[in-house]
Amino acid sequence: MCGIVAYVGYREAYPVILKGLKRLEYRGYDSAGVSLLDHNGLQVYKKKGKVAQLEETLVGQALPATIGIGHTRWATHGEPSDRNAHPHRSASGRLAMIHNGIIENYAQLKKELQNKGYIFHSDTDTEVLLNFIEDIREKNECGLEEAVRIALKRVTGAYVIVLLDQENPGTLIAARKGSPLVIGIGKNEHFLASDASPIIEYTKEVVYVNDYELAILKEDELILKNLGNEKLTPYIQKLDLELAAIEKGGYDHFMLKEIFEQPHTIYDCLRGRLDAKSGQIVMRGVDNHIEALSKAERILMVACGTSWHAGLVAEYIFEELCRIPVEVEYASEFRYRNPVIHPGDIIMAISQSGETADTLVAIEKAKEQDAMIFGILNVVGSSIARASHAGAYTHAGPEIGVASTKAFTAQLTVLTMVALRIAYAKGTISQERYLHLLNELEQVPAKVETALKTEEQIREIAARYADARNMLYLGRGYNFPVALEGALKLKEISYIHAEGYPAAEMKHGPIALVDETLPVVFVATRDSYHEKIVSNIQEIKARKGKVVAIVTEGDELIRSLADETIELPACDELIAPIVNVIPLQLLAYHIGVQKGLDVDKPRNLAKSVTVE
Ligand code: G6P
Repeated sequence: MCGIVAYVGYREAYPVILKGLKRLEYRGYDSAGVSLLDHNGLQVYKKKGKVAQLEETLVGQALPATIGIGHTRWATHGEPSDRNAHPHRSASGRLAMIHNGIIENYAQLKKELQNKGYIFHSDTDTEVLLNFIEDIREKNECGLEEAVRIALKRVTGAYVIVLLDQENPGTLIAARKGSPLVIGIGKNEHFLASDASPIIEYTKEVVYVNDYELAILKEDELILKNLGNEKLTPYIQKLDLELAAIEKGGYDHFMLKEIFEQPHTIYDCLRGRLDAKSGQIVMRGVDNHIEALSKAERILMVACGTSWHAGLVAEYIFEELCRIPVEVEYASEFRYRNPVIHPGDIIMAISQSGETADTLVAIEKAKEQDAMIFGILNVVGSSIARASHAGAYTHAGPEIGVASTKAFTAQLTVLTMVALRIAYAKGTISQERYLHLLNELEQVPAKVETALKTEEQIREIAARYADARNMLYLGRGYNFPVALEGALKLKEISYIHAEGYPAAEMKHGPIALVDETLPVVFVATRDSYHEKIVSNIQEIKARKGKVVAIVTEGDELIRSLADETIELPACDELIAPIVNVIPLQLLAYHIGVQKGLDVDKPRNLAKSVTVE
């Protein structure tokens, strides 16, 4: 979702901003633009479509500015078009602004401004906010910084804004509420971006801007203030991130690279935490709060998208191992309900990006009711990480492909370790089962490696099913959320309509869809539901549906029934989702590729959904 890059320093700003916008493409967007300020004044260039299209229009132009702002827009107010693209210019032409987020009271502000004679050239809430700032500056005859502060006190919604001012050519002014913003600190230069990826090749020193903070950046100065105009001391952190981690490394797509990274990322997630030999799980975030976690009367998992699916798997695991009731909530629903939260409840916020607006607001609401927030997060220093009381990082590294893959398996790995650690402390697991599961977890990277060897077979299966209009994904028990995740991956990447269901529940509706044109993917590895799911496969075959079955190696029974069988190494059923999802990721990927789609940047989707 909207990407922001800005630069002030001694380099030419345009190439820095352009490269930064390309690094942020993964977030999802539909138009791009830059604004540069040099001795000729303020220029704005913007274009519907890809950053490369914007780049084409600027080929050969001399762009010597050393200060500028750039933006990739994911449309909210107004269709994707050149005129709705950012940056926007104020009515006087003096200011240019980029914005990520939504100004909720924009309609009212727009009316006020229109009554004063302002004319708008776009449908965006951004242009309204910009002119509102300009109007305040002119009316109060104050500086831009003060005008921004006054304006933001009247604004409701979420935003990151960055402004360029023709009358103040060496200064960038930025502010944040709700949407992410990182400052990169170089020698005689400063960078601003929605995440660290445009910054790391220049500097590893960063400051994460907090809500209601204002940053005033010059080439050699960084001033951080709150909206009350008090100076704050910037907290400078060192990024633990290498450039290679955000590049494709020889793979055709980030999604494929990330799928193949999983043996390694899962290993990184276990490393230093789990020791099967000594029977130990050491997780500082859990150990420090083990009493509250063990005494929890209920756990509420709050998340969106794939992270919500990780929560669903965790519900089965926590209830089984820890005997703690678990509810899994869509953050977007939870935040608007009046949820009942008791003092002993723990809220687990699961998020890859740590920036998902609904999840962030949901935990802030829960905090108001004194809940303890435990984050399962991938991005270190993200907004949700900072808003949580405790947590555990997934250590999956940057995930660039819009469809989440390695973050999901890392979330499952961490959640399983957390559950085991709590179960051990509570005494709700036998020593034998505990040690067995530790052993099983330790073997996951190797089993995932084996699961990845199915790629060639899956590529062939993908060719046979790429023309399907609909697909059904079925699983039971721990594999039910895996089926949901498989269906989501296919939808996201191939635009084939797919639904996930608990296998038995299909008799209450989806079975009406079954005929010889409907491929049904069964996640049917050997577990306590095996016989039941074999019956479900029979029910589909009896109606001539095509069955693609994910099975445990050597499952001759299902092989004799299914049209396609993909074999995976045997796993304890509690751990199996981490391995079973691999072929489903590959299937979605290869169907998307066969259909010639942009699998890393599927239409309309955003990697990090920073608006509600
Ligand atoms: C978007 C992404 C999904 C992701 C979801 C939740 O929809 O496209 O891949 O699962 O957001 O994101 P989070 O960063 O909170 O896990």
